[in-house]
Amino acid sequence: MGFNVAIDGPAGAGKSTIAKRVAKENNFIYVDTGAMYRAIGLFIVRQGIDIHDKEAVEKAAPDAKVSLTYENGEQVVVLNGENVNGLIRTEEVSQAASVTSAYPVVRELLFEMQQTLAKENDVVMDGRDIGTVVLPNAQAKIYLTASVEERARRRFEEYKNKGMDVDIEELKKEIAQRDHQDMTREIAPLKQADDAVLVDSSDMNIDEVTKAIMDIIKERR
Ligand code: DC
Repeated sequence: MGFNVAIDGPAGAGKSTIAKRVAKENNFIYVDTGAMYRAIGLFIVRQGIDIHDKEAVEKAAPDAKVSLTYENGEQVVVLNGENVNGLIRTEEVSQAASVTSAYPVVRELLFEMQQTLAKENDVVMDGRDIGTVVLPNAQAKIYLTASVEERARRRFEEYKNKGMDVDIEELKKEIAQRDHQDMTREIAPLKQADDAVLVDSSDMNIDEVTKAIMDIIKERR
C-alpha cells in the first residue's frame, strides 16, 4: 500500500486546490475522484438520458469507460478515449454527477480503480467517501469544510475571474442542494470518518489550509 491521504468534504470547500498543492509538496499523485463521477455525469447528459431515471442511468453507465492519465503532473480524465477535462466543470455536469453518483452501479464502476491507484501509488485522493469507504485504512484522513456562504463566495470569485456572470444567491442554492444530495444518499454518503481530522477553512487562506494538512501528514509519516 502506498502512503494514502484521504480528503473528503462538501462541494466548494477547496479540496482540489489544497489536494493538488499537498500532492505536489509530497511528490504524491493527486486523484480527483469527483472528476471521475463528473465524466460519467457528462456521458449520461450527452446520451440524453434523464439523470433521475436510475434504471436507464445504470444500464448506460458501464459504457462510460473512464480512466486517468497525467500530463505534466496534471490529472487528465479520459472518457472513452476523449480528454474531457475542459467539459466537466459546468453546473449541468455538477448536478448530473451529484445525482448519478448516488446509484450503486455508478459507484461500483469507479471504486476498484480508485483502490488500485492508492495501492500502487502514494496518493492524495479527494472526494466524498474516500476516508469512509474507498480508503478506510488511509494513513491520514482530513474532512475539509467551510460555510455555505464562504463556499458560494469562492465559486462566485472563480466564475467572475473567468468572465462569467453568475448570481451568488443562485450559487448558494446549488451548493446547499448538492450538500443535501451528497450527504443524505443511501450509499457512501458524505460524512466525516471517525478518525478524520476536521479542518474548517471558512476563515483560512490557501496557505494556512495547506500547512494544516501538511502538518497532519508529517505526524503520520
Ligand atoms: O468533488 P466534485 O464536486 O467534483 O464531485 C462531483 C460530484 O461527484 C459530487 O457532487 C458527488 C460525487 N462524488 C461522489 O459521490 N464521491 C466522490 N468520492 C467524489 C464525488
